[in-house]
Amino acid sequence: MDIFVVEGGRRLEGSITVGGAKNAAVAIIPAAILSGDICRIENLPTISDVSVISQILVQLGAKVTQISDSVIEIDAREVNCTQVSQELARNMRASYYMLGALLGRFSRAKVPMPGGCYFGVRPIDQHLKGFEALGAKTGLRDGVISLTAPDGLKGARIQLDVVSVGATINLMLGAVRAEGLTIIERAAREPHIVDLANFLNSMGADVRGAGTETIKIRGVKEMHGTTYSIIPDQIEAGTYMIAAAATGGDVMIQNIIPKHMESISRKLVEMGAEVYEYDDAIRVTRSGPLRACNVLTMPHPGFPTDMQPQMAVLMSIAEGVSTITEGVWENRFQYVSELVKLGVDAEVQGRVATFRGVERLKGAHVKATDLRGGAAMVIAALISEGETTIREIYHIERGYEQLIDKLVAVGAAIHRRTVPNDYE
Ligand code: EPU
Repeated sequence: MDIFVVEGGRRLEGSITVGGAKNAAVAIIPAAILSGDICRIENLPTISDVSVISQILVQLGAKVTQISDSVIEIDAREVNCTQVSQELARNMRASYYMLGALLGRFSRAKVPMPGGCYFGVRPIDQHLKGFEALGAKTGLRDGVISLTAPDGLKGARIQLDVVSVGATINLMLGAVRAEGLTIIERAAREPHIVDLANFLNSMGADVRGAGTETIKIRGVKEMHGTTYSIIPDQIEAGTYMIAAAATGGDVMIQNIIPKHMESISRKLVEMGAEVYEYDDAIRVTRSGPLRACNVLTMPHPGFPTDMQPQMAVLMSIAEGVSTITEGVWENRFQYVSELVKLGVDAEVQGRVATFRGVERLKGAHVKATDLRGGAAMVIAALISEGETTIREIYHIERGYEQLIDKLVAVGAAIHRRTVPNDYE
């Protein structure tokens, strides 16, 4: 297996360019099959989640051509299968976007229950409730979700009981080809919801209101091919902003949309970092001490849950007592016990984690418990004295492109090493 080896204590300085948004890419690639035509998708991140979702399209009969590292062309004319294989589906959460996309195009879909990071139960009741409102029959047998709409999908008014990114996306994918008007109320408002709507509209769909809590979709009979460039990754950008602040560095983070970063920038300033906004870049620097703060994670435009493990690292070296209250997931603090191995003083009670700032962290053997928990381990390792090794890095590589190259370019000492599987 491969691990990351980090020699901590170096200040990050220089510039990092952010890639395309993972959570937009894994929705937009499935959406490409709605047209039965050719779609060119640009600014894709080079991460394993993108390869897996592309392989799912290939398994269904689409032709996916890699034009360059960040550009693919999807030819969905020959898609002839509506059942996703177990093996591919369980590799990632977003495999379930094939439900909405296949239902929209073929009025039927079979997709095994998806994989993805474990944060306690991850129900899909809101997806199924929405598909049923659109006229689909839903079933679950031997771990495979099946949807059929023999009479086609019909537009409907759907009020989600919880704000769900996944359900909002899945229902948008189905509704764009349904007959008549669909209204999704209490919709998620994340930047990638808006990106998906823009992509669908560029294929001839009629989606309005994305980015607000009410999305209106007028179904269309035909959709066509398009060329589309994905938005920058808000969470990748935020992760490097925190790495800059944590190391007392000075980093220009390029190719971002500063508006998407507001909730993160605000917290960094509150904690004592300096944040300068440019048109498509943000500079983060810090020379003074970090101050404690409290964070409550919430759906967009609140503080993103996908940034809480990285924030925890800053809190662990900030003067005073900080708290994180997790407002989205039932259980997203598995990473805390790994941070403790590096000397972090933390306590978790239910949905609240408390961090008492310490002066220094010390290198140790840790593991990535999930994607963002893994990103937190990398940041913590950068500020720990001595060497830290990080196992189970496949979690990190699902969502961060060229992490080592990007960090080394700004002065970090991090490399990959292959070790025996029983390495401790
Ligand atoms: N929920 C339900 N029923 C449903 C769907 C969701 O009760 O049918 C609940 C969940 O249990 C959770 C809350 O609603 O408590 C929010 O879940 P949501 O559906 O919004 O999450 P998701 O779509 O499964 C996406 C991202 C996650 C990110 C969350 C929240 C993708 C592929 N994943 O997950 O990203 O944490 O939204 O912003 O877009 C990551 O990138 O590291 C990651 C985990």
